[in-house]
Amino acid sequence: MRPRSFGPSGWPRNACIAALPGNMRGMSHSSPARPACVVIGASGGIGAALATALEASGRPVLRLGRTTAPPLDLLDEASIAAAAEHAGHDLSLVIDATGFLHNAQFQPEKNLRQLDPAHLALSFALNATGPALLMKHFLPRLSRAPAAVFATLSARVGSISDNHLGGWYAYRAAKAALNQLVRTAAIEIARTRPHAVCVALHPGTVDTGLSGPFAKTGLDVQTPAEAAARLLDVIAALTPAQTGLLLDYQGQTIPF
Ligand SMILES: NC(=O)c1ccc[n+]([C@@H]2O[C@H](COP(=O)([O-])OP(=O)(O)OC[C@H]3O[C@@H](n4cnc5c(N)ncnc54)[C@H](OP(=O)(O)O)[C@@H]3O)[C@@H](O)[C@H]2O)c1
Repeated sequence: MRPRSFGPSGWPRNACIAALPGNMRGMSHSSPARPACVVIGASGGIGAALATALEASGRPVLRLGRTTAPPLDLLDEASIAAAAEHAGHDLSLVIDATGFLHNAQFQPEKNLRQLDPAHLALSFALNATGPALLMKHFLPRLSRAPAAVFATLSARVGSISDNHLGGWYAYRAAKAALNQLVRTAAIEIARTRPHAVCVALHPGTVDTGLSGPFAKTGLDVQTPAEAAARLLDVIAALTPAQTGLLLDYQGQTIPF
């Protein structure tokens, strides 16, 4: 992983180490020792790679997830609120790398006959409601300085206009809902933090536990480290004019 040097249009250079004791950002952060970068879902394939890449380039990261201290469970709003409280204020970068596609009980649907209300409910809880609660509790904690970023990992298959294959009802619909929630929150947060950026990002196809069972030959499959590097490049180049968008790992806007 090559260290990244975040450009002038991204969040401030070294913003995520700006919370060290003795400097002004650290003083305004609720805990001087607490990182200004947060990765939620840091146990996941892409989340772990994002946290590692940030740390490798000198930006300490607060890693959050179901097994961290404090724990953050998307299905438990109280845990999200407590984790946000723990993270403090004046955050420069919050990345939500959580998500759900399949488990032992539910696989992506191939047709309408396979629709299951319990599957739909779980997908919405984890891919839409959970990230919405993250925005509820973390967006007010973003720094007011240019250019704080909240980025949640969505998926191209959540684009309605890009849906030419069908299938994967629960995942597609929940990611489409997530894109709408991001857009709506971006409009609201711009009123108090006009420099902040709130986006949904499509990481591309990445070799993780989420995508592994669905790998197809011919697809450009990235390692988590490659995807993380590309996503951090995209985040570094974000401008407030892009808030509310769904962008891919090359920085291209994906139409909703
Ligand atoms: N991989 C791809 O090809 C691909 C393509 C397009 C979009 N994406 C999106 O990218 C994101 C990350 O995917 P990934 O491939 O890195 O998946 P992953 O390796 O399966 O990671 C998923 C993460 O979500 C967390 N999570 C699941 N349920 C949770 C809950 N109730 N509370 C808190 N955290 C929970 C997991 O935590 P635990 O370790 O506790 O389970 C894990 O950290 C997802 O939103 C996915 O939809 C991935």
